[in-house]
Amino acid sequence: MADERLIVALDFNNFEDAKNLVDTLGDDVIFYKVGMELFYSVGERIVEWLKSQNKKVFLDLKLNDIPNTVAGGLCSLMHLGADILNVHASGGFTMMKTAADRLHEEAEKSGIVCPKLIAITVLTSIDRDDWNGMGYDKIDMTQQVLHFAKLAQFAGLDGVVSSPQESKIIRDQCGENFLIVTPGIRPAGSDIDDQSRVSLPSYAIRDGANYLVVGRPIRAAENPKQAALDILKEIGEV
Ligand code: C5P
Repeated sequence: MADERLIVALDFNNFEDAKNLVDTLGDDVIFYKVGMELFYSVGERIVEWLKSQNKKVFLDLKLNDIPNTVAGGLCSLMHLGADILNVHASGGFTMMKTAADRLHEEAEKSGIVCPKLIAITVLTSIDRDDWNGMGYDKIDMTQQVLHFAKLAQFAGLDGVVSSPQESKIIRDQCGENFLIVTPGIRPAGSDIDDQSRVSLPSYAIRDGANYLVVGRPIRAAENPKQAALDILKEIGEV
């Protein structure tokens, strides 16, 4: 049985490259992340194809707009069959609550399993300089991530995306049933690329993450399958 905790990011701009990676990884990986680059290039057929291969899909489109627009957008995406959808917590409580309520209503009305809805807290690429540059120098970033996590939970969302460095405090304060999805995962010795708040796969799991989103460390590896197997082995030993 494949370990669902590894979500591989299909950050490609065409269907063939995405399909090749999924084929290469085979039965060992069942969860994939489809983000803006792939979805905007290829559209809904990538989600339909992944579902036809019995894969799970995190459709990472990071919606952020007024409540009615986000809720309507999510309902449309739900009908594609994604297992996880997301919004930005910075869109505010009313946006998140409207989105969660409408998604649940629409799922019930349509007789489909409601996807998990999670919120982006603060992007894992944001470092101190970026943070201060946005005018938040008086605000502690970790406290803000935690604040967003609690706000998302209060609005009825299922979990958050956060950096692995904030998983522990979120797990402690939001409880066992709140999903924590962490990108910014870098196995020992790999490049951090444009990420900033990164961690090892085993540490992220140990600190409470339910899912790890891994892109370049697998996609750009000389042997992507081996890179995925190494991460699966590492988290299997936690
Ligand atoms: O290549 P890498 O492992 O850095 O990819 C991480 C993936 O997770 C990217 O697709 C990125 O869009 C996504 N992500 C992120 N930070 C977030 C949410 C999603 O890096 N807060």
